[in-house]
Amino acid sequence: MEIKAILFDLDGVICSTDEYHYKAWKSLADDLGIYFDKEINLRLRGVSRMDSLEIILEKSSRQYTKEEKEEFASIKNNRYVKLLDGLGNSDILPGINEFLEECKRNNIKTALASASKNAPYIIKKLNLEKDFDYLADATKIVRSKPYPDIFIEAARGLGIDRKYCIGIEDAISGIRSIHAAGMKAVGIGDRKILNEADLIFKTTSDLNFKEIETYFKKEK
Ligand code: BG6
Ligand code: MG
Repeated sequence: MEIKAILFDLDGVICSTDEYHYKAWKSLADDLGIYFDKEINLRLRGVSRMDSLEIILEKSSRQYTKEEKEEFASIKNNRYVKLLDGLGNSDILPGINEFLEECKRNNIKTALASASKNAPYIIKKLNLEKDFDYLADATKIVRSKPYPDIFIEAARGLGIDRKYCIGIEDAISGIRSIHAAGMKAVGIGDRKILNEADLIFKTTSDLNFKEIETYFKKEK
């Protein structure tokens, strides 16, 4: 295949905001007296804010109204955004700046395919606005990963046919989302967990455009 665009997940690929999501959900769960731990947090990767809340409320013995849920999601988000205050260039994961430059040099379009409604704010804080040709709008997306919606929206925004797109993800739900969108998937992380990805790099420092290009040249 010919590669015309690379679509990036945010958390775990561009930066690590996972810990901040965890802290904000944890403080909400503690306030509500609901059990929440890092293992449950893993299920929230790539999952929208309201769907994440539903997962957290699975451990609650009572039912909440739509209004209460909206209030909880807003409390969590305010705490999360506060934690993002100090975010800056140094929070960009190793090798990402170089990889984005390499994409540019090779005339590859880049887009962000994050489920986070805070993604534009995070990209601004990281000073990466000029490095992306398009930021997919998570507010337009109803179905979370592993559904393909956010990757489809990213390709649409770039105006590039999905068959020319590669997605990069660190979570298995994200790899499934990329495949469901009819794209090839590059995984970042553990080979055992991401075994469905077409190509895997251990860390973001290992990302290398030439290797990706050579690998997918063989693929249809
Ligand atoms: C994803 C995270 O990037 O964004 C999820 O992996 C998070 O954990 C989702 O729930 C939505 O984020 P936000 O910023 O819109 O609440
Ligand atoms: Mg991720």
